[in-house]
Amino acid sequence: MSKKKRKIAVLTSGGDASGMNAVIRTVTRYGIYNNLEIYGFYEGYKGLINNNFDILDLNSVGGIIDRGGTFLYSARSEEFKRSSGMKKAVSTLEANGIEGLIVVGGDGTFRGAHDLYSRGIQVIGIPATIDNDIAGTDYSIGFDTSLNVIIDLISKIRDTASSHERIFVIEVMGRNSGMIAVNTGIACGGDYILIPEIKVDLNMIAEQMRKHREGKRHTLIIVAEGAAKASDIASLIKRKVGQDVRVSVLGHIQRGGSPSAMDRILAAEFGKKAVDLLIEGKSDYMVGLRSMKIDISRFGDVLKEKKGIDVNLYKLSHILSL
Ligand code: F6P
Repeated sequence: MSKKKRKIAVLTSGGDASGMNAVIRTVTRYGIYNNLEIYGFYEGYKGLINNNFDILDLNSVGGIIDRGGTFLYSARSEEFKRSSGMKKAVSTLEANGIEGLIVVGGDGTFRGAHDLYSRGIQVIGIPATIDNDIAGTDYSIGFDTSLNVIIDLISKIRDTASSHERIFVIEVMGRNSGMIAVNTGIACGGDYILIPEIKVDLNMIAEQMRKHREGKRHTLIIVAEGAAKASDIASLIKRKVGQDVRVSVLGHIQRGGSPSAMDRILAAEFGKKAVDLLIEGKSDYMVGLRSMKIDISRFGDVLKEKKGIDVNLYKLSHILSL
């Protein structure tokens, strides 16, 4: 009689990020290659609560490597945070004979994963959030794609800003982190970057703007959503500088689009490592990239540590915009 295949599951949770589909593809194909059966649960932890899944085969993940979003869908489940929801999720996994779970998402996802681990579930995490605010990894899946989308949008804004010699205040996402804003500043030639991690004197910025060098045709102020509202900054600057200011809130456009090469490659490496860890019997770990090497960290450490922004990059961006 043939030996029964071991079953593992995968789900995507929290805010979607480009490259999640490429992760599901890797987990499915590399898992099948290792003789595992792969369960794909829909809408994150909600799918575990509602026993909503499909068994994924080689064809289920065909043609998705270049698609943004997640074909397993995503959700932020309130029910899962309650003990009753958590119990349902555990019994779904046990009733289906699933031995290991891979969760793809951000810190909220890993908090849930850590709780599942404490209830005896073997679970591994893959960081995927455009915010790139997860400790234990230099990059989260989706961050690079998001930056590339932002670069494209801001270069369009710069075209019109230069034509009219205008000041633009551009609001980017990032929740409580200035990671997207700092990297946007350096990649797009932003003049000022406002982030929650560093307080700045807006009077000083206005004063500098009044004395801007001749020949400077545009001023780009990048505001992290966690620092301030772009519209508030714009009214303040307008009042103090006495010049017209335009606002652009980039919003959810930053979360869409076909994943970049970097996000696809990370999806392959993180996905493989996560399956390997489950096969080795490891649990309660997140995979990550540190100094260009695949690494692992305990969920407990990832959740305790706050990932800071690169202050040197922040300073350099302001020097380069002189
Ligand atoms: O965590 C990713 C993110 O896009 C944040 O940058 C942003 O604050 C939040 O999600 C927006 O959430 P929602 O999609 O629920 O509006």
